[in-house]
Amino acid sequence: MTEHLLIVGAGQAATQAVHTLRQNGYSGRITIVGGERHPPYQRPPLSKKYLAGELARERLELRPAVWYRERDVTLELGTRAVELEPAARRVRLDDGRIVDYDRLILATGSKARRLAVPGAELAGIHYLRTIDDVDAIAPELVPGRRLVLVGAGYIGLEVASVAVRRGLDVTVLEAADRVMSRVVGPAISAFYERYHRDAGVNIECGTVVSGFVGRERVEAVETSGGLRFACDVVIVGIGVDPDVELARSGGLPCDNGIVVDERGRTADPLIVAAGDCTNHPHPLAASRVRLESVQNAIEQAKAAASNFAGEPHAYAEVPWFWSDQYDLKLQIAGLAEGYDETIVRGDPAQKSFAVYHLRGGELAAVEAVNAPRDFMFARKAIAARISPRADQIADPAFDLAKLLPA
Ligand code: APR
Repeated sequence: MTEHLLIVGAGQAATQAVHTLRQNGYSGRITIVGGERHPPYQRPPLSKKYLAGELARERLELRPAVWYRERDVTLELGTRAVELEPAARRVRLDDGRIVDYDRLILATGSKARRLAVPGAELAGIHYLRTIDDVDAIAPELVPGRRLVLVGAGYIGLEVASVAVRRGLDVTVLEAADRVMSRVVGPAISAFYERYHRDAGVNIECGTVVSGFVGRERVEAVETSGGLRFACDVVIVGIGVDPDVELARSGGLPCDNGIVVDERGRTADPLIVAAGDCTNHPHPLAASRVRLESVQNAIEQAKAAASNFAGEPHAYAEVPWFWSDQYDLKLQIAGLAEGYDETIVRGDPAQKSFAVYHLRGGELAAVEAVNAPRDFMFARKAIAARISPRADQIADPAFDLAKLLPA
């Protein structure tokens, strides 16, 4: 009998794993179990073009149906795997079915973090993580309505840029003292705060939501500082948590994600994991990391799948991330941790500049705004462990690409 490989989770990592397995000659049957009823799709456009109504739903799909058929992949959608029994090599689904496996890939992704305050269950309060979430949100974004966004991260600010352009009255409430503090340094935060304000968005940092009030629907947001923001609709974007429930049920070690090695291997030799749900070592990080990005899902899935077919390899790519807001493309390369020197290249007033972070003279990360050349340079330079000098970075006339190996 041919072997059966089960993939739990139907996102970017799952699709990539299938691609890599078949490319490497894996000949077993493959099943993907996904909790959502949609076939694997791209998540990044959800809070951008899809929310803005500029992208049809079909265009979100990562692969057409025929792609799965040609690869002998069965999609089991709209059902969650809820219990893992590694000793018996089986998984129980939420509809009671048992699925046996010979090898298992956990690609369970992450879940929107919930805001646990009084009134959180009122109608009109949304989270944005899935197609269904956006299909519920889009008709709510009616011009003239008052929208409160909780959290000034990627979700809050991307939605703000869509909603204010549509003519809503937009307020963003952020607990930290600056926007996007998880992902960028203070210079980029300040630039984006000003840009949003100039576009008409009201941003309140250092503001903690204490509750929602309303009769049937949400009518106001209250803060622990005693402020009250009247509203018609709320979207909460306060981060994501790795979906580790299944891994935990099977006794696999989890610590801010499923604990895996540089090849995506869990504590069980028949189980690997990839994507948002993992906690892994990375050569550019001082300690283990959990990365929330498409690139991480793709590269880690390649490495994880390589344990089961082809030449096993570690995952060590330079991490990168992006966000689209208004006419600004933010691209980040590297991990901005523990840096001790920051140099700005280009002119923020021209809406095209990059912030370079160095650690002990070594290039650690670059945050580029409408500066794709700096972003590309950073990816290559960090990978090659090449660092420009501060005076070279600060001089926009200096061609940094000259420093890269030919
Ligand atoms: N009240 C207000 N703000 C809060 C609260 C709270 N109770 N808790 C957290 N925050 C703020 C954080 O300080 C942070 O600035 O919410 C923001 C969350 O930002 P992100 O971590 O970027 O999360 P989010 O915007 O929800 O995006 C989640 O979706 O866009 C994708 O993969 C991308 O990682 C991203 C994920």
